[in-house]
Amino acid sequence: MKVAVFGSGTMGSGIAQVFATYGHNVIMIDIDKKILENALNNIRKSLNKLYEKKAIKESPETIISRINIGDDPGYSSGADFIIEAIVEKEELKIELFKKLDKLHDKNVIFATNTSSISITKLASATSRPDKFVGMHFFNPVPLMKLVEVVRGERTSDETVNYVYDLAKSLEKIPVKVQDYPGFVANRILMPLINEAILSLSEGVATAEDIDQVAKYGLNHPMGPLELADLIGLDVCLDIMNVLYKDLGDPKYAPAPLLKRMVAAGKLGRKTGEGFYKYNK
Ligand code: 3HC
Repeated sequence: MKVAVFGSGTMGSGIAQVFATYGHNVIMIDIDKKILENALNNIRKSLNKLYEKKAIKESPETIISRINIGDDPGYSSGADFIIEAIVEKEELKIELFKKLDKLHDKNVIFATNTSSISITKLASATSRPDKFVGMHFFNPVPLMKLVEVVRGERTSDETVNYVYDLAKSLEKIPVKVQDYPGFVANRILMPLINEAILSLSEGVATAEDIDQVAKYGLNHPMGPLELADLIGLDVCLDIMNVLYKDLGDPKYAPAPLLKRMVAAGKLGRKTGEGFYKYNK
């Protein structure tokens, strides 16, 4: 089928890669050709790595040949399935979905990879709330098995089941969850990261030692601070703010150090500095 992926950042490009790996023709759309070229390079690197490890059967070039790029929503015309992974700004997502609603046949399902915005709210911007669903992937998308399939207030059973089966066909492990702040994964993960940041700022241990504790005492593949750097501290702060505001419990208040680092532009790997320093 033809899949239109909106957004070519870490998540969008990962999603495009996975759909193409499983034989779908993908159109990856973003506002700028340069960002798209960069995304294709990252996809190529990831596929090369997976090919070397025999984790994919087809050659990276064959898979990449199924991905086209475009810098206008019009390029999604004729798509059988839409998935949106643009920046986590509600107004921008609503504006995009309003446009797409006019462009696409009423039968086309719209999915969003949002990690924190209400599916019900985004669905309400369209005339097809029954065909609107959350399809929440995890970073790095080609490696992480989980997909949260998020049911909005008016999402139909048919749509939920379709996306559940679609995730399975991509060899992911889908779980069905309700439209609730942070869904399940981020409601569990973000308070853990926030607590690690509070422990750091209260001088309980160094960043390295906090991460060692999680890795070797709790058997997590990554410590919470290095994971926050991978996810992006701005994303972590956005999600904490949603939990804090929408669940109305002070236990979700974002750590002051997290707010300070985001204000300083220390967003983790993508800016070269977060809790650790990186060569860009
Ligand atoms: N494509 C292909 N290969 C990749 C890759 C990608 N996108 N990302 C990493 N790899 C490779 C690495 O380069 C490495 O290759 P190498 O062995 O040749 O050096 C290999 O995968 C394994 O990496 P590591 O040696 O670092 O080994 P790990 O076993 O630790 O695996 C990991 C890496 C899968 C990222 C693991 O550390 C992990 O599971 N970390 C936790 C990730 C996590 O929790 N993600 C969820 C974030 S929350 C989220 O996304 C939700 C959102 O809403 C915020």
